Amino acid sequence: MNVKTVGILTGGGDCPGLNAVIRAVVRRGDALGYKIVGILEGWRGLLENKVEPLNLESVSGILYRGGTILRTSRTNPLKHPNGMATLQQNLQVHGIDALIAVGGDDTLSVTDGLFQRGVCVVGVPKTIDNDLSGTDYCFGFDTAVNIATEAIDRLHTTAEAHNRVMIVEVMGRDTGWIAVAAGLAGGADLTLIPERAVDFDQICDVVRKRSERGKYFSIIVVAEGVKLLLESGQPGQVRQGHITDEFGHVQLGGVGTVLARELESRLGMETRVVVLGHVQRGGSPTAFDRILATRFGVAAIDMVHQNEFGKMVALQGNQIVGIPLKEAAKGPRPVSAELYATAAAFFG
Ligand code: F6P
Repeated sequence: MNVKTVGILTGGGDCPGLNAVIRAVVRRGDALGYKIVGILEGWRGLLENKVEPLNLESVSGILYRGGTILRTSRTNPLKHPNGMATLQQNLQVHGIDALIAVGGDDTLSVTDGLFQRGVCVVGVPKTIDNDLSGTDYCFGFDTAVNIATEAIDRLHTTAEAHNRVMIVEVMGRDTGWIAVAAGLAGGADLTLIPERAVDFDQICDVVRKRSERGKYFSIIVVAEGVKLLLESGQPGQVRQGHITDEFGHVQLGGVGTVLARELESRLGMETRVVVLGHVQRGGSPTAFDRILATRFGVAAIDMVHQNEFGKMVALQGNQIVGIPLKEAAKGPRPVSAELYATAAAFFG
């Protein structure tokens, strides 16, 4: 394939480091002689022909900026009439010979669908939740962990001053990577993650034992995706509403408040909840995330240059490798048993 023009898009939830990927693709792409075009707002932009050229000027000064200059959406082309065919057709209309798609499992599954239709694609893995299969780390995660850790540090002093249980709700739809990492770094007294069943007796035990040794406050970190016994009598995630996005995801949030109510009634201790929410996804990426995102961007355009399509770049150990796009769709990668056990050694 003689590639001359390369398109790039960012899909799904944003996270710090996306601009570093875009900058790396444009800078390296320019040096290799490619014309780079940006597709705005993820798959929606390709369906609606929102495409604009990118050059060295467009990516100047964006390395440290959060968000994505291309903007993003959770549009699922499969939910639009002839969506996949329209994507393919519009790539041709704009003369895009190869596409770099930066996104999570949803975006990358569509990318793989395009590959099956004969489109030259390369994927770049992205999720703040850090749970994509095939890569040890996603950029944005380190930034989120640092933000959550700072919040936990700050909550310690106020929790201690008031003898309170403080619940910190962090992101993590299916897995508890942010919760476990921030809990470890911030010295949480307990961390609850979607991979493990919640045991209220254990939680109360931890808080009581702390009181017995003169620690009249506790910090509990909870991932938003933790399942609780709901009013229906069935275990389930706590939702903010019943609207789902085009990939079928509900809006999560509120598990901390449900937990707080239950703990207050069981322990008779004042309990407060802090939901970190999108603060974790905002702002400037850490140096680690800038470096990882830059390595991914350079590797992605290099793969285009080597005609290696149908793959995504990934970090395995300390090496950037190319793996089949299908790997990303293998389901969320759970928190490693070793990491959780290390965090658990400090519970109580
Ligand atoms: O999938 C990443 C994530 O940040 C989840 O942790 C969270 O549940 C969700 O996205 C939030 O999505 P939105 O930005 O659409 O509210």
